[in-house]
Amino acid sequence: MHKIAILPGDGIGPEIVAQAVKVLRALGRHGVALELVEAPVGGAAYDAAGDPLPATTLDLARAADAILFGSVGAPRYDALPRPKRPEQALLRLRKELGLFANLRPATVHPELVNASTLRPEVVSGLDILILRELTGDIYFGQPRGIRAAADGGREGFDTMRYTEAEIERIARVGFDAARKRGRRLCSVDKANVLETSQLWREVVTAVGAGYPDVALSHMYVDNAAMQLLRDPKQFDVIVTGNMFGDILSDEASMLTGSIGMLPSASLDERGKGLYEPIHGSAPDIAGKNLANPLATILSAAMMLRYSLDNEAAAARVEAAVRKVLARGLRTADLHEPGTERVGTGEMGDAVVAALG
Ligand code: IPM
Ligand code: MG
Repeated sequence: MHKIAILPGDGIGPEIVAQAVKVLRALGRHGVALELVEAPVGGAAYDAAGDPLPATTLDLARAADAILFGSVGAPRYDALPRPKRPEQALLRLRKELGLFANLRPATVHPELVNASTLRPEVVSGLDILILRELTGDIYFGQPRGIRAAADGGREGFDTMRYTEAEIERIARVGFDAARKRGRRLCSVDKANVLETSQLWREVVTAVGAGYPDVALSHMYVDNAAMQLLRDPKQFDVIVTGNMFGDILSDEASMLTGSIGMLPSASLDERGKGLYEPIHGSAPDIAGKNLANPLATILSAAMMLRYSLDNEAAAARVEAAVRKVLARGLRTADLHEPGTERVGTGEMGDAVVAALG
């Protein structure tokens, strides 16, 4: 029996997580025994307990075998002091649980080739993996702050930093992932300007010596942003730091037609993970049965694969999603003439029905 922490969060989080929970419960019929325990996180937890990551929620996340996470954040929390903001819950979970390896696959389902803003021939068959380091970089580097500046005004400052050990462990995950796929790893940095990136490039290159079967290349992040639009299929696995990975993974999501389709896994050294859609809480459509639950359902599939070691169940969920798309069901984000528009709940029900 695996224990799963269910953290729905804010905005569309609760409704999309509810669909993934339906799918996980339905897998019980296929012999997947899961204990699902829900806890508040983000703005919802701040409202309930005055803390976006209450100790009880953190304890549950620590005790669980895996975490299914929705989304956090809403405009009404933006004026709170930083430690109370919903996003801190996610950043603290990542840091405290050591979830340093963030896998963000971007694949184009054949049914959705026309949903991308790029020409079909540029994206059809796309299958890339962005591997983002998740617990270091300018996101967590100290010192940081807002202070009095020499000119009498104020200045804001953050610190970009990576240790060799941090770079080495994410590089290994990148090479190992590439080995299981197309054996090509592109490391993205800004080594022409940043010291952090120069060290990044040296360490990734050194780790690469142990993987002669994987072709390693390096690319500056500005060029990578351009190449992702020009010819995304040139990539197999991209490994990069926290900040560049945040930006490039949102960009890559649009190659697939909708950010509502992309799942992610954030893993620690032992494969325990937090699974979440890469999109945010979308407060503008929250509670309207409009959100696309597929990124969350596909995140649950990644959870089955990476943390619960159940490839069969993961493949079953992914096949169900493909079946539903092939039948022409689409949420509002992907609706086009000739397809059938459904709500969040109906999409979840359709995936459950397609599980067989
Ligand atoms: C993401 C999000 C988060 C990040 C925010 C919500 C803190 O954009 O997971 O990509 O910047 O990492
Ligand atoms: Mg982001």
